[in-house]
Amino acid sequence: MAKNDLIDSAYSDYSDEQKGRRDLERLKKHNARLQMICDQQSEQLESMKKAKFSFSKQRPQKPGKTFLRFIVPDTHGSLVDQAAITAMFADLERMGSSVREVILMGDHLECGGFLAQHHVLGYVAQSEYTFADDVMAANAFLDEVQRLAPKARVYYLEGNHENRIERWIVDQVLGHAKDAAFLHKMFSTKNVLGLDKRGIQFFSSGEKYGLRVPGAIKLGPCHFLHGSNHGKDVARKMAGMFGGNVVFAHVHTQQSVTVRTVSSGEIGAWCPGCVCQLQPLYRHSTITDWSQGYGLQIVRSSTLDFLHCNVPLIDGQSLLQGFAGMF
Ligand SMILES: [Fe+2]
Repeated sequence: MAKNDLIDSAYSDYSDEQKGRRDLERLKKHNARLQMICDQQSEQLESMKKAKFSFSKQRPQKPGKTFLRFIVPDTHGSLVDQAAITAMFADLERMGSSVREVILMGDHLECGGFLAQHHVLGYVAQSEYTFADDVMAANAFLDEVQRLAPKARVYYLEGNHENRIERWIVDQVLGHAKDAAFLHKMFSTKNVLGLDKRGIQFFSSGEKYGLRVPGAIKLGPCHFLHGSNHGKDVARKMAGMFGGNVVFAHVHTQQSVTVRTVSSGEIGAWCPGCVCQLQPLYRHSTITDWSQGYGLQIVRSSTLDFLHCNVPLIDGQSLLQGFAGMF
């Protein structure tokens, strides 16, 4: 007789009720085992929740005092873009007394015409305006800046276009110092724009201001320089060259980059674009990729740490329009 037949014959004496009770006992034991496994799993899940990945509950920092730094890139005198500068001034007016510093990044005089003799090959001479027009346009620009931000300290960095005046003077006088001084009195950027009378500090592109490169200044942890580099990805090059935060102009395109370096930690470089015409006559044969905008920094008064924003001016509209009054 096979083993299973023996078991069957042994159980054949049990009644159906006994068989049912026996099955029930077996199921109860099975359920108890499953319950134990479930309890263990829940316990494990609970301990995982409590484990190492809790976040500290730090109290939010009090905001502290801040001020605004308003940064104007290339406006190019009489070649300013009327719609773009109108939108920029509307924002400046809304920010008003919160603006404590204005940085004029250079090229606020175009200095075309007879002053443009140092242009590179391919330059098309412009004759639609005079130097007097250019000076009037730049003075009107400064009048408006100072009217809209009356409490602001204004810094003026010399651009390569203003520098044409210096080079023109040198060419005219051929080393005669007294004549150079006379022409300087007549035509220098500082004098034609009355910067001393306005209380605006001028920084020459040929002088050093406590830094290794001429023409650059440093306010807190941020450098400012008109710039001279061209080509792609200038922001990354500038961040690498300065090894610190830097705002530059000159390339007429909005650019920004943040990088983290071993010695300086996280730093950034920004170009806010330009506020001049995007396709001036002298670039008539070359389509530009320029973009319009200005820079805005929210600066913490105690440390001078800052948050930088390139504000785009697109088709005469500021992307900050409507929000400018928040600051
Ligand atoms: Fe420029």
